[in-house]
Amino acid sequence: MANVIVIGAQWGDEGKGKITDLLSRSADVVVRYQGGVNAGHTIVVKGQTFKLHLIPSGILYPNTDCIIGCGTVIDPQILIAELDQLKELNISTDHLLISETAHVTMPYHRLIDQASEERRGSHKIGTTGRGIGPTYADKSERIGIRVLDLMDPDGLREQLEWTINYKNVILEKLYNLPPLDPGEVIEQYLGYAERLRPHVVDTSLKISDAIVRRRNILFEGAQGTLLDLDHGTYPYVTSSNPVAGGACVGTGVGPTMIDRVIGVSKAYTTRVGEGPFPTELHGELGELLCDRGAEFGTTTGRKRRCGWFDAVIGRYAVRINGMDCMALTKLDVLDELESIQVCVAYEIDGDRSEHFPTSSRKFARCRPIYKTLPGWQVSTTDCRTLEELPQQALDYLKFLAELMEVPIAIVSLGASRDQTIIVEDPIHGPKRALLHPDGTPATLLSA
Ligand code: GDP
Ligand code: IMO
Ligand code: MG
Repeated sequence: MANVIVIGAQWGDEGKGKITDLLSRSADVVVRYQGGVNAGHTIVVKGQTFKLHLIPSGILYPNTDCIIGCGTVIDPQILIAELDQLKELNISTDHLLISETAHVTMPYHRLIDQASEERRGSHKIGTTGRGIGPTYADKSERIGIRVLDLMDPDGLREQLEWTINYKNVILEKLYNLPPLDPGEVIEQYLGYAERLRPHVVDTSLKISDAIVRRRNILFEGAQGTLLDLDHGTYPYVTSSNPVAGGACVGTGVGPTMIDRVIGVSKAYTTRVGEGPFPTELHGELGELLCDRGAEFGTTTGRKRRCGWFDAVIGRYAVRINGMDCMALTKLDVLDELESIQVCVAYEIDGDRSEHFPTSSRKFARCRPIYKTLPGWQVSTTDCRTLEELPQQALDYLKFLAELMEVPIAIVSLGASRDQTIIVEDPIHGPKRALLHPDGTPATLLSA
């Protein structure tokens, strides 16, 4: 039995969907614990592509229970579209369970998200416009609608009459938008409720039962460490806690039940939306990474900003998440390059620093200090063992593992499930803390 958290170690889109799908073959339960339909997780199996926003990436395994936990926010319209899409592809969703206490994204959340971004002008965050921030804001303000409210038609009518009239003041007076018709929204959401009702349960109880029965549980993070509300590049973050700690709060599982944390990172860096990004490449190289990596958002289709691997944020992610090992994805995207740069430290206001600064204004002034490594200039997409990798690629991996003091347990060389090298068992291999009890850095890819 092992309970494992998979998190994004950068700014999202690291390939969490691929890695979660891969690890789901030995999981009994896969749980999403935060975020909403701002996420876009891609899985490619035998040439078929699946794009998931809310449904956990374990859904392709019919015997694996999939749970949308209480820390997520649920847009029922998009969730239902996702269920329909999977049904069309003959993928069963009978094993999907939805938390009663997750909060629900309403039409006013989407409208306010988009209107407030417009109002912010040059201060905009570059959100996905899916109403995520306003849904979490209502949760904190204690005026949110939860899934269990949707399941109670009389209660929902009463609650939404009041809330929509309250939100209409904001829509009309602050944003100059037409008001919503409470009756229309109520009927629409009661329809969604009936569709989702068979999936709705007390998921914390289900997970607790699974733990008692010593089942393997995989917690699937959305977004990434640097987008975390508390630990990311605030205010250019999302409104939830993608870090490993969020998995406990977002599912109702105690920290003592967690066995392991796996971080997912690209072999370079991308970011969507606004905010500082020290290793961003603006010229031809950035375009090359974008083209080779097909770096366009799964949810919004926006072009992702691309840059070199940043080991400062890598080390930060290892620390903040208590990461045991790492899955490094998209190594193949670097195949053509003559040389590759890795940011080993920052220069901040004339001083060298190896630490991620807590202030975003300071972070915006960080200049990367690079180490240049030779490229390998051959295709790696068909490699299935470390021995098959060109020496320069192996050296690159060793360099990153040593720099971040974390073993690389998985290397991904293509979008497909099989384009993967398992360096060591990421779930049952030694824990990072046990690798070097005397404080010496982890060497190589585990050894
Ligand atoms: P997530 O949000 O972390 O699940 O990542 P996304 O699915 O949004 O973005 C990752 C993209 O890279 C998807 O299109 C994946 O199919 C693709 N991908 C994942 N791993 C690899 C890899 O090793 N190589 C390449 N070329 N593509 C990959
Ligand atoms: P996955 O799970 C990459 C970014 C947005 C924006 C900021 C806030 O696929 O990795 P929000 O709509 O959440 O209020 O937007 O966060 N963002 C993501 N970037 N991958 C994601 O999810 C993201 N979800 C949100 O671009 O900068
Ligand atoms: Mg994504």
